[in-house]
Amino acid sequence: MATVHEMDHPLIKHKLSLMRDKTTGVKEFREATAEIAMLMCYEATRDLPLKEISIETPVAQAKVKVISGKKIALVPILRAGLGMIEGMLEMIPAAKVGHIGLYRDPETLHPVEYYCKLPSDIQDRDVLLLDPMLATGGSAVAAIDSLKRRGVKHIKLMNLIAAPEGVKTVQDAHPDVDIFVAAIDEKLNEHGYIIPGLGDAGDRIFGTK
Ligand code: PRP
Ligand code: URA
Repeated sequence: MATVHEMDHPLIKHKLSLMRDKTTGVKEFREATAEIAMLMCYEATRDLPLKEISIETPVAQAKVKVISGKKIALVPILRAGLGMIEGMLEMIPAAKVGHIGLYRDPETLHPVEYYCKLPSDIQDRDVLLLDPMLATGGSAVAAIDSLKRRGVKHIKLMNLIAAPEGVKTVQDAHPDVDIFVAAIDEKLNEHGYIIPGLGDAGDRIFGTK
């Protein structure tokens, strides 16, 4: 069964509370999204393999550790996942970036894929899949299905807020995918919104409502 890593860092909790507040404007909301993604990136990459190399410091020879060439791709789910990209690239500037476009049909809540453009060597890369919200889990499962159809073997899912229903749906469908989440909230409402949540992440990042 996939492991769920819920963040407990005070900086993450503080910034997330700012995002939940309905009076927080687009600029602050966008900044907090990027900052939390950057802080969560630290946890999600904790298992990156290291190798030892020899270098010279200004005063001595030293054996030091560097990341041993793991190939990573960042894949935001459009639209709202784009808000996490900037913070992730601050930490992993050489990562390649793919995009999966999905929207939730407002009536059925089923995900509809409208775009997919991935690095050509995606099957050789570990993917960090980014979406601020994991609600019913339909969008995340569809995105993971899409990546696996294209040969991706290692996927980690990163969300800011998840509903317990969404976590279970992803775990049942893809038990090999670890989930990194800043907070697991109480429940979904009858419209598929996370309670208490933060509203519509895409609209709040891009100011479309
Ligand atoms: C939001 C969010 C997720 C999805 C989560 O996107 O960014 O992708 O809903 O819901 P689910 O877990 O029930 O599938 P939305 O469909 O609103 O599209 P947008 O990002 O383009 O606004
Ligand atoms: N998508 C969002 O942006 N917010 C929710 O609460 C649920 C799905």
